[in-house]
Amino acid sequence: MLTNIFETFESNVRSYSRSYPVVFQKAKGSILYTDNGKEYIDFLMGAGALNYGHNNEYIKRSLLDYMQGDYIMQGLDMFTVAKSEFITAFNQHLLEPKSLHYKFQFCGPTGTNAIEAALKLARTYTKRSNVVAFMGAYHGLSLGSLALTSNQYHRQVAGVGLNNVTFIPFEQNGPEGFDSLAYFEMMLEDSHSGIEKPAAVILETVQAEGGINVASAEWLAALYAICKRHDVLFICDDIQIGCGRSGEFFSFERAGITPDIVVLSKSLSGYGLPMSMLLIRPDLDIWKPGEHNGTFRGYQLAFVGGKAALEFREAEGLDAAVQRKASYVTRFLEDEIAALDDRIEVRGLGLMQGIDLSRFRDPLMAKKIAQDCFKRQLIVECVGREDKVLKLLPALTIEDDVLERALEILRDACLQHIGQKALS
Ligand SMILES: Cc1ncc(COP(=O)(O)O)c(C=O)c1O
Repeated sequence: MLTNIFETFESNVRSYSRSYPVVFQKAKGSILYTDNGKEYIDFLMGAGALNYGHNNEYIKRSLLDYMQGDYIMQGLDMFTVAKSEFITAFNQHLLEPKSLHYKFQFCGPTGTNAIEAALKLARTYTKRSNVVAFMGAYHGLSLGSLALTSNQYHRQVAGVGLNNVTFIPFEQNGPEGFDSLAYFEMMLEDSHSGIEKPAAVILETVQAEGGINVASAEWLAALYAICKRHDVLFICDDIQIGCGRSGEFFSFERAGITPDIVVLSKSLSGYGLPMSMLLIRPDLDIWKPGEHNGTFRGYQLAFVGGKAALEFREAEGLDAAVQRKASYVTRFLEDEIAALDDRIEVRGLGLMQGIDLSRFRDPLMAKKIAQDCFKRQLIVECVGREDKVLKLLPALTIEDDVLERALEILRDACLQHIGQKALS
């Protein structure tokens, strides 16, 4: 199929189709198929919305049964069986075994909707307007979340001031030797810091769009302790690294902390259906009825898919599988890709891994390799400052042989552009 219908009629704002200019039609597991049957291995997975693979059979069966049965589709926020079953399953599979106690707030369908709700709640609860976010953060592009997103490319089109946010460097991204946690605490304690005490700190424990920057468990625990000492809410944006991608359902578990608010979306529905949700520390739930409202807050099919996804995770032992595959990927990246050249840095957590090519003189190195991967039928995205990091986001269910094939493609594309200096 020709692509000119999109080029002619779809707004210039379209983005991913520029990197992958083919027409996709079908998908199964980790493979995307174009309209003429060409196969691509998907290392993007709907930007993290498809952790369980394309058209996951188990989840699909639940969705088809639901539709076949003429069960309710719209729901506003009325009581429905599908919602009740999702809440029950989430409690049974996740919260109770992890001794977590949260209330659920179902938000508008996408991640940014839930970020807006979290911000509004934190500000209303604390009666403070400032929020601390991190340089390199991506929390969405509606006005409140855009104010927390650091990339100037996105910020410059806000059209209004993006205020009430103080940015500090993420763990490894400050100037050499800079301790952003010490700076943060100074900000809170020094009566001359000039910075309003924040309602909350918000962060991704692994910055995804920011370039796969992994916060260490120790740093997260120390940041959490500062928040507790100073009565600042801790909001974990688990939209991309959550839902099992880190090797555990929640990405903060490794730090032994309990965020006041957790934001989930993307793979929550299990099938790529839009859904977003806040987990709220129960005493923070000071909303009055309908104060934060909307038509699509809890899409029934997403509840059905979300419940099935939790059952699937458990039946498959997915956390253990992710941890096993992650060690394979890490080893491959270190032995076969980082070994190609000293300027390559690889880093990540679980099945979110990055290849940082920012130390090459060619600013387009990552983009060229991603384009080359596409020619070799692997879909991979560039993220980070000036898009210099390749982001690997395979399905958590990816088969070992497909994973191996994808990594070999990546290595071959790197070899093509970087050469084999260090190996020779
Ligand atoms: C960590 C994080 N937060 C928020 C968002 C925004 O979600 P959405 O694009 O669904 O609005 C994203 C999207 O990529 C994300 O990765």
